[in-house]
Amino acid sequence: MIRDSKLLVILICVVVVVAMAPAQDLDRTARLLEELTNAAGPPGFEGPVREIVVREFEELGAAIEYDGLGSVIATGPGSADGPRIMVTAHMDEVGLMVQYVRPDGFIRFKTLGGWLRQALPDQRWVIVGSAGPVLAVSGLRTIHVTPTGERNQVWPLEQIFLDVGARSAQEVEAMGIRPGDPVAPWSPFTVMPNGRYAAKGWDDRVGIAVMLEAARRISEGEIQTPNRIVWVATVQEEIGLRGAQTSVYIADPDLGISIEAGVAADYPGARPEQAQERLGGGPGMFLLDSSMIPNTKLRDFFFDVAEEEGIPLQGDVLTGYGEDGAEIQRYDTGRPSVNITVPTRYLHSHTGIIQRSDFDHAVDLLIAVLTRLDGSTVERLSGF
Ligand code: CO
Repeated sequence: MIRDSKLLVILICVVVVVAMAPAQDLDRTARLLEELTNAAGPPGFEGPVREIVVREFEELGAAIEYDGLGSVIATGPGSADGPRIMVTAHMDEVGLMVQYVRPDGFIRFKTLGGWLRQALPDQRWVIVGSAGPVLAVSGLRTIHVTPTGERNQVWPLEQIFLDVGARSAQEVEAMGIRPGDPVAPWSPFTVMPNGRYAAKGWDDRVGIAVMLEAARRISEGEIQTPNRIVWVATVQEEIGLRGAQTSVYIADPDLGISIEAGVAADYPGARPEQAQERLGGGPGMFLLDSSMIPNTKLRDFFFDVAEEEGIPLQGDVLTGYGEDGAEIQRYDTGRPSVNITVPTRYLHSHTGIIQRSDFDHAVDLLIAVLTRLDGSTVERLSGF
């Protein structure tokens, strides 16, 4: 009881401090990161993210195409007639799907993408129904009624539910919620100390933002590239690289660069045996993941460019992570491909953390590579 009231006082203090803090003073890049991460876009339901991506590319005067699944393929301006370089990131994020509504108004769901079971209860979510977004809570059975033997258990999916405040299935229906509707985490973008940002959905909105920033800088004419750069924002990556599989035929790349949220393993309990990236260490490159091994010449090219430019670049060898670069690698008869990352803590959860300097360095590195690639370089990297 005493412990509870102490907790309440702390909570009230936190609420007061947050309420008193000045509005976040964000530059254009941070505002883009905020808008992208706050948008709801589980696999197959990327609409709100696609709107932002298309708006940004149209602002740059790019030509927009779509594949049959809803991936966005953008080219030019500032794009030359050289080799076709596919730069890709995915718009979807891990989420849920409404499975069925119980007569008492509680909602059962299935997961879209890889979630730890312990990350599902006790969170806020947004159900995107036909009448607009509805806040939902994945209720946590209170400790007061949980038998001692069950207090440390991870609950199976079948025991977790969403509560939208309804008292019946009819009320849920009246809110515009139906089976098959997407559910996204709710966790607003927040600035932290040391240039760190907390938000949901870094995987892979951070990759989308790297791509948009690089495209903006190139199209504004500061940078000349001899390549035909094809910017691709894919769908349904989290459920099997599906948008990359289809959009690669439109991009028709000679070489591919995938941009992803990396796996920072720089917090208590994470070990280098699992992943080796850390926040503040610069962008990362997957040297091995569960979907591909990068082309070794392209890998070395990235590290050489990074060294010339004084940009830190971390290698990461891990498994249990697949990414869109693999679909480029296996396109047609095979293409050189790499996966570049912005190190991210706690991905596939309600709140991940990135560091702004890693993001900026990732944009710098991508631009440095895109300006150095040309016909003969791509031919050299593609040969054996
Ligand atoms: Co991803």
